[in-house]
Amino acid sequence: ISLKPYNTFGIDKNARFFTVAESIADFKEALIFSKEKKIPAIILGGGSNILLTQDQNALIVKNEIKGIKVTKESENEVFVEVGAGENWHEWVLFSISQGWSGIENLSLIPGTVGASPMQNIGAYGVEIKDVFHSLKALNRETLELEAFDFETCDFGYRESVFKNKLKGKYIICEVTYRLSKQPVFNISYGAIQETLKAHGIQELSIKAISDAVIEIRQSKLPDPAQIGNSGSFFKNPTVPAEQFEKLKELYPTIPGYPNENGVKLAAGWLIEQAGWKGYKEGSIGVHDKQALVLVNHGGGDGAQVAKLSEKIQKSVFEKFNVKLSPEVNFL
Ligand code: EPU
Repeated sequence: ISLKPYNTFGIDKNARFFTVAESIADFKEALIFSKEKKIPAIILGGGSNILLTQDQNALIVKNEIKGIKVTKESENEVFVEVGAGENWHEWVLFSISQGWSGIENLSLIPGTVGASPMQNIGAYGVEIKDVFHSLKALNRETLELEAFDFETCDFGYRESVFKNKLKGKYIICEVTYRLSKQPVFNISYGAIQETLKAHGIQELSIKAISDAVIEIRQSKLPDPAQIGNSGSFFKNPTVPAEQFEKLKELYPTIPGYPNENGVKLAAGWLIEQAGWKGYKEGSIGVHDKQALVLVNHGGGDGAQVAKLSEKIQKSVFEKFNVKLSPEVNFL
């Protein structure tokens, strides 16, 4: 079966087996099947963070565990358990309709709820770890459901224990978020403030912030329904403060955001400066409004995209002595 409809890059590669899991029982069944057939089971959410570089001799299982349930509530807070297969943006819109605050800055991020803790999704000053309470994940070995809290998830920038120490060992089935009933606005990003101002918004609301984020994202990120892509292709690299100072002497306009490990650079800026923005090579290329996004204009091949990403890494390294690592998972 072709996986083209199941990855936002729109890459046409095949899977030997494909199934949908609507429950934990479905997942258990799928895992047993993959063991019998001696092939890996690969779990897919929205397919918005993968690059298919080859046909998959595997069982692809699309996570479609649904459901939104309030598990605890107080005057100020609400704990909501959400099925990992729920669409992320629809869940964000639902939380806004309920007046729950905390994830409005994360509007319009493609993908599913299950992917949100996996890579600690983030945008416009908010990361999932800020509103994360706990999750339930299926142990692939024992087929037992296990609980993880904030500590055991070991979140970092676009990182969690599920991408590192426990890679390939668990299937995230349900995520519980802790949201606020009293809005806590985060408009630290200049772009949000400018957009609110442009619309003459006097009184802040979570809906107004969500609308602003949607407008900003739509202005620079390609819509996967029109142009295949997986959002940011690389992570923003952090370099030691001394290296940043040297870069700043050579490139006075280089953006840099100090963090606990040094200074975080904007990969999009580095790629643009290296001359790649808007680059086209057959049907693949670099987005012309955001150089951090690689695109498939239609009919592109995943292996070709992988090659292009290596060329970009090499060229950025030669120019700036900075290593870019992919944010997207290669399959
Ligand atoms: N920039 C350029 N040229 C470009 C792209 C960016 O000069 O082609 C500069 C911008 O002018 C700005 C800086 O780079 O000074 C940062 O750009 P932007 O605000 O667009 O954000 P980003 O660092 O490129 C990150 C996330 C995005 C998230 C935005 C907003 C990563 C890998 N990406 O991108 O997340 O939406 O911040 O918070 O951290 C994703 O992960 O898929 C994603 C889209």
